[in-house]
Amino acid sequence: NSHHTYDYIIVGGGTSGLVVANRLSEQKNTTVLVIEAGGSVYNNPNVTDTLGYGKAFDTDIDWAYKTTDQEYAGGISQTVRAGKALGGTSTINGMVYLRAQAAQINAWETVGNKGWNWKNMLPYFKKSEQLQDPVHYPFLDGSGVAFDPAYHGFTGPLKVGWSSTQLNDGLAQKMNATYQNLKVPVQYNPDPNGGDMIGYSLYPMTVDSELNIREDAARAYYYPYSNRTNLHVWLHTNANKITWKDSHDITASGVEVTLSNSTTTVVTATREVILAAGALKSPVLLELSGIGNPDILSKYGITTKVNLPTVGENLQDQMNNGLQFDSKTSYSNKSADYVSYPSAAQLFPNSTAVGAELLRKLPAYAAQVASANGNITKTRDLYHFFKIQWDLIFKYGIPVVEILLEPSGAMYDTEYWGSVPFSRGSVHLSSAHPTAAAIIDPKYFMLDFDLHAQVQAAKFIREVFKTEPFADMAGAETSPGLLTVAAGADDNDWADFIKSNFRSNFHPISTAAMMPKEIGGVVDPSLKVYGTSNVRVVDASVLPFQVCGHLQSTIYAVAERAADIIKGRL
Ligand code: FDA
Repeated sequence: NSHHTYDYIIVGGGTSGLVVANRLSEQKNTTVLVIEAGGSVYNNPNVTDTLGYGKAFDTDIDWAYKTTDQEYAGGISQTVRAGKALGGTSTINGMVYLRAQAAQINAWETVGNKGWNWKNMLPYFKKSEQLQDPVHYPFLDGSGVAFDPAYHGFTGPLKVGWSSTQLNDGLAQKMNATYQNLKVPVQYNPDPNGGDMIGYSLYPMTVDSELNIREDAARAYYYPYSNRTNLHVWLHTNANKITWKDSHDITASGVEVTLSNSTTTVVTATREVILAAGALKSPVLLELSGIGNPDILSKYGITTKVNLPTVGENLQDQMNNGLQFDSKTSYSNKSADYVSYPSAAQLFPNSTAVGAELLRKLPAYAAQVASANGNITKTRDLYHFFKIQWDLIFKYGIPVVEILLEPSGAMYDTEYWGSVPFSRGSVHLSSAHPTAAAIIDPKYFMLDFDLHAQVQAAKFIREVFKTEPFADMAGAETSPGLLTVAAGADDNDWADFIKSNFRSNFHPISTAAMMPKEIGGVVDPSLKVYGTSNVRVVDASVLPFQVCGHLQSTIYAVAERAADIIKGRL
């Protein structure tokens, strides 16, 4: 089947893959193929329903990856969800559109990626975005939603805004009053997407405000352009591995795929192979293609093409917990997008002491992570990353936890997580068979600061619910409840509840990290895999550090920038 030849083959038609496919196929003389394991979900109500979060879980459009039994978190396996559809995880996610703190993106440059900083990324956030101004939607009157036009794009492909189910009964204003009444107030921040996230905000979502449906990567970046004759998408097609030219340098010749009719064939790429299969798949595809740790590859009979042992290392996720309270008001078929982002100084009563203690522990943390992976990542490098992360928290004042409040039926549901856990794990193949499950080990709660931040967030939420005017609107805490975790409980008392009730926050990153090769990077600042001449990774795998927002906005922006790099514009 050698007649299938394209300039670029993009593996994964998800959040990042469709951005790059769209931008490369703007060039009429450039042919682009997207290979996607899932199908179209254009008319799938589990996807389109803006109040349908969770409906797609464990259906055929959810990869539902399983982790190994988590040694530091109750010994149980966790499910990490990811979308298997055209549009990828953007078709099943929570639609939250929250970026990152400017200093965090600047840290990408600090760690050695020239040009990757907030100032250079802001134009790409804007380029992808089509903010739907709430002023045009009367149903948003009184809802409290706001934005600063300086930080938003209005003509990009991705619709961002609020849906017609947004609450406008004054709750947002009461939440704000409550945050201002805290002993250490958390200030109102009208727009958390301008690089400063600290405060209490209402955040926008990836929705079509007009139609009241989810906006995903396929709706934004593919369907309106699907008549381009130079852009092809193969659905229900599994990419098995990269194929290589018989040449002196390491150059991809194409991709071996298994089609929906179960036949296997090779598609030729004359220019590049671009991996966008997500943070839990792209590194495994590299390994299946012979790029990785020779000790791991040889176990499965795979010949090493490029010795790059950190492929699949540096896996970072967050841990999500919740507290629930009765509500005196009943909310149904409504949504409310309230977030608070306290800094360490606002969260920890003794922030300076907490920072000093953590700083003393960093060398031990670095050694522990290195030893857990057989020193594939080096103590010295990890210490360097951890110190950057420490500076972000304690010098630059990034949000240290995220707290979401969601009125739901007759209760107030909250979700919370430490924004930048220090624990790092890995993902590696378990077989040379291309669709075998990988070994995913995020090492949740390996390092004690991660638990400490999580506990402190829970305590903070209890304070919020004790503060007027909110205190008067909420009833009893139903989960965990004071019988399970007493008022004034310490880290040890909370540990049991947190570790037996948390879930993955579904934000895995960094498994093909963009960093200098000497410190363990897998891709260079042009997102090219070290040692290859024409293989790139453009998805969540490349983020060197976790971000305080949610991942999609940043991934859209990274992919926009990747497209300009590939086009030779940067
Ligand atoms: P993505 O997963 O989008 O794309 C990978 C694609 O590759 C998929 O379409 C997959 O099917 C395909 N693929 C994989 N292996 C393949 C193979 N071998 N061959 C062919 N195709 C293959 N973020 C946010 O900003 N706000 C939010 O509210 C949420 N909420 C949320 C909830 C849930 C449940 C999840 C799981 C995640 C979120 N996120 C989120 C995270 C965010 O949605 C996510 O990080 C990005 O969409 C990931 O984009 P990528 O491009 O990295 O991978």
